[in-house]
Amino acid sequence: MVQRIGALALAAGKGTRMKSDAPKVLKTLLGKPMLWYVEAALAAVCGDLVYTVVGHRADSVAAAFPELAGRFVRQTEQLGTGHALAAALPALGEAGLDHVLVVNGDAPLVTAESLRAFCDAALAARADVAFVSIELADPGYYGRVVRQGETVCIVEAKDYDPAVHGAPTGEINAGVYLLRLAVVAPLLAKLSNDNKSGEYYITDLIGLGQAAGLRVLPVNRGADAAYLGINSPRELVGAEEILRRRIVDAHIDAGVVVRAAEAVRIGPEVAIAPGVEVCGPLELYGATRLGAGATVASHSLLLDAEIGENVAIAAFCHLENARVEAGCQVGPYARLRPGAVMEEGARVGNFVEMKKSVLGRGAKANHLTYLGDAEIGAGSNIGAGTITCNYDGVHKHRTVIGERAFIGSNTALVAPVTIGNDALVGAGSVITSDVADGMLALGRGRQVTKARK
Ligand code: UD1
Ligand code: CA
Repeated sequence: MVQRIGALALAAGKGTRMKSDAPKVLKTLLGKPMLWYVEAALAAVCGDLVYTVVGHRADSVAAAFPELAGRFVRQTEQLGTGHALAAALPALGEAGLDHVLVVNGDAPLVTAESLRAFCDAALAARADVAFVSIELADPGYYGRVVRQGETVCIVEAKDYDPAVHGAPTGEINAGVYLLRLAVVAPLLAKLSNDNKSGEYYITDLIGLGQAAGLRVLPVNRGADAAYLGINSPRELVGAEEILRRRIVDAHIDAGVVVRAAEAVRIGPEVAIAPGVEVCGPLELYGATRLGAGATVASHSLLLDAEIGENVAIAAFCHLENARVEAGCQVGPYARLRPGAVMEEGARVGNFVEMKKSVLGRGAKANHLTYLGDAEIGAGSNIGAGTITCNYDGVHKHRTVIGERAFIGSNTALVAPVTIGNDALVGAGSVITSDVADGMLALGRGRQVTKARK
């Protein structure tokens, strides 16, 4: 019989050990919230049958995942992981699930492959209650798996008593469970909060299940780091490092040359064409795309940047929400802010800043320039020190420059202003009125040279 399997991410907790007011599951790794990774793995296994329990700062968590709208469950008081599951029961029942795969929302290293293998093992064994256990040198704060003869249960670290439970073995509970709802739902009413934390533990379902004669199956994954939970800043940066290496390695295996790879940070949604060469230290985040033949030198940061084929980005560049078309050259020390577009073969050099501006095909702004709310036609040359004065203190205004225009060095273009095709602006000008096609404009005092007294 085909089983209908849905998933539940537990994300209502406060994350006290993070020592931060922000919800723990929104803390980011490589630019994406912790919960994003969990949701991505669960969606790969269960499609859109993924539900998420939210509670602490529920609105901000829900707002961070608009694609999950309609599949959030509220746990108004955070009374423990067992209580969180109970809060989700009505939604899970309505979805007509046979099994639910429950995963802690603070375990961003889980992979779809690993979760699938776990579900397969649990279903093959016809388990009613299955959970993943892993081996750690130090069981730390994790729930410990206690096997005594035929029985198995999970004892939380705070409640662990070596006199009763024996010396800890290092086998711990990973926080991933596959539960057959029809038989597990009735057990939820039997959970008690009579423990050191005063919480209803989902982990008590293992002992209760055994007592009720259900098939309980621990699936031991050895020393698999993919299940580590994140509870503190130290664990956050530790997990981020594991994830970072995983992603960088995948790009190298796919044909990207990553030099100084130990200092390269790449977000999970970044796409890089095979053959691209990059060098650390470097950060690539968001929906950044690097086309074939592109190179990115060290000390650069790209966020949501679209980089075309054969683009060369020199060292120390900062690009956000920018599009750089094929064959462009950028930097060193260039800053492309949101809305910056460099059309094919354009060049931007050192200490040039662009914002909401288009630099046309083959146009150049090679030194010390600010281009804001500007449109520059193909083949134009923007001299060193040119500034578009786009802000009058209240409003932003546009500067439009035609094709093949030449703007002399140290020019201030006071917007709104239009410079025509083939126009020439003399160096040091302050341009406050439009310049027609092919004209020469000089907006500066004439030099006087006199004999010295
Ligand atoms: C939990 C397990 C522990 C396991 C560890 C693995 C319990 C009781 N213990 O401990 O056995 O080794 O995970 O990482 O489950 N949450 C809610 N509502 C709540 C409380 C928590 O949604 O009322 C969510 C949290 O947001 C978090 C997850 O459940 O994502 C786990 O809670 P957490 O407090 O981190 O549990 P641990 O102490 O780490
Ligand atoms: Ca945890």
